[in-house]
Amino acid sequence: MPAPTISVRGVGKSFEGNAALADVDLDVRPGTIHALVGENGAGKSTLGKILAGVHQADTGVVRLDGNSVDPASPREALALGITIVAQEIALVGTRSVIENVFLGSEVTTGPFVRTAALRRRFEALVAETGIDVDGDATVDQLTIADQQKVEILRALARRADVIVMDEPTARLATHEAEALMRIFDGLRRAGTTIVFVSHFLEEVLGISDQVTVLRDGRVVADGAASSFTPASLIAAMVGRTLDAAFPPKRIVPEARTAADEAPAPALKVTGLTRSGVFEDVGFEVRPGEIVVITGLVGSGRTEVLRAIYGLDTPTAGTVEVDGKVSRTGSPRASIAEGVALIPESRKTEGLFLDFPLVANVSLPHLRRFTRAGLVRAKQVARVAAGAMEDVGVKTPSPEAPASLLSGGNQQKVLFARALLGKPRLLIADEPTRGVDVAAKRQIYDLIAAEAARGSAVLLVSSEMEEVIGLAHRVIVMRQGRVLGELAGDDINESSIAHLAFGQTTKGHHYVD
Ligand SMILES: Nc1ncnc2c1ncn2[C@@H]1O[C@H](COP(=O)(O)OP(=O)(O)OP(=O)(O)O)[C@@H](O)[C@H]1O
Ligand SMILES: [Mg+2]
Repeated sequence: MPAPTISVRGVGKSFEGNAALADVDLDVRPGTIHALVGENGAGKSTLGKILAGVHQADTGVVRLDGNSVDPASPREALALGITIVAQEIALVGTRSVIENVFLGSEVTTGPFVRTAALRRRFEALVAETGIDVDGDATVDQLTIADQQKVEILRALARRADVIVMDEPTARLATHEAEALMRIFDGLRRAGTTIVFVSHFLEEVLGISDQVTVLRDGRVVADGAASSFTPASLIAAMVGRTLDAAFPPKRIVPEARTAADEAPAPALKVTGLTRSGVFEDVGFEVRPGEIVVITGLVGSGRTEVLRAIYGLDTPTAGTVEVDGKVSRTGSPRASIAEGVALIPESRKTEGLFLDFPLVANVSLPHLRRFTRAGLVRAKQVARVAAGAMEDVGVKTPSPEAPASLLSGGNQQKVLFARALLGKPRLLIADEPTRGVDVAAKRQIYDLIAAEAARGSAVLLVSSEMEEVIGLAHRVIVMRQGRVLGELAGDDINESSIAHLAFGQTTKGHHYVD
């Protein structure tokens, strides 16, 4: 067996006294794909960031090709040949795609970066990888999926020997994720070493050579990918076996026919249009019902949710909540009507990263805790901490800033915030993105419990299993239009795929 490219011995790392990693050993062989898996907060990103110079280990040693290294910054790590595609997108939003891709790798060009040369290099990179993004677009204007692609292109442009990829496929459609796996394979053949973090266990087992499982900052299993199954990986990750992933679906009371008896839908959308984005979208969600919108890349699902919640103003159509026409274009009015939204991007739309968790969870609900103009701070802290406990947020303290939590735990904080408001209508865009298997189950239970409580639930999801496992009704969109609805036994992989593409496909996140 060749000597390891990366050899980690006894690495420990604490944040404010809390151990994120303890006594970690890891050997990554050259030209292999080495997966790191584990629950949210297990320490995967921390380990990846130590390799890439973002964090420095407190104890232990990292060797690169036999030499002890301790990069003090990502720049130093890159000079050693190591780079990272971080879990959270870190691009310069006001710059173009091309500028972002080559930012930081322009070591030789001097002050005058030659635009034409960069464009040629960009085009070569796109041709080589098949990752297609408009090079002239401003990053801020791209969808989150496209921003993820820019991150990946940037890492590839740096031609590093070792690339840490922290959940690179979490935001990609299935065909894109599959394409990325082919790129990984090509890089491996060319001798590049990849450290791959992913919660998609089948993807991990399909592409990786070796797998290391972390739990609570320690290595609990390590071996050839072929020696694991998804079930044995899960067992190692959570330290126990998990039963079926989805709670049983409750039967939703049928809307009665006599007009005076019929319960009003919790949400009724009619003719909703935002010019050039989506058109004539109409559907209902009844109390107790879970409706999932799915569809292809750019199908307008996220945009429909945003318009319903009031983040964008539609150009035509109406949104009725509990039988009353809702004011559009006002999230504040939505909150007052009992509508809660869990957005697509935790970083840009969701969390105030510098604020304490308690504030993040309670801010939209402060009116409830205000008497005579005074916020009852103790009560707020208690209720918010309880809500976070209910959804299983793993944090050293409810007062910690949100920026300190692992990606999956941040997602759970958004959930706690939404549930604290006891919403009539819960809207969530990709509610389990970046969340580990055990926490997924927890979130599915919470969604089912919300519906059982009588709330209406409207989700956007790209994960086929999730769509099938949760939905009472599925709405399929394509190119800004509703193509059809499926209910009951018609909710299965082949009919959904058939509606969405006119063909069958397999995969956990086949759409954007
Ligand atoms: N900058 C930081 N400051 C304080 N604590 C941190 C920081 N970064 C990570 N942590 C903590 O370290 C632990 C490990 O976090 P890490 O991000 O490595 O987990 P992860 O395995 O990547 O999880 P996920 O699957 O949710 O991304 C967590 O308890 C997290 O709260
Ligand atoms: Mg992480």
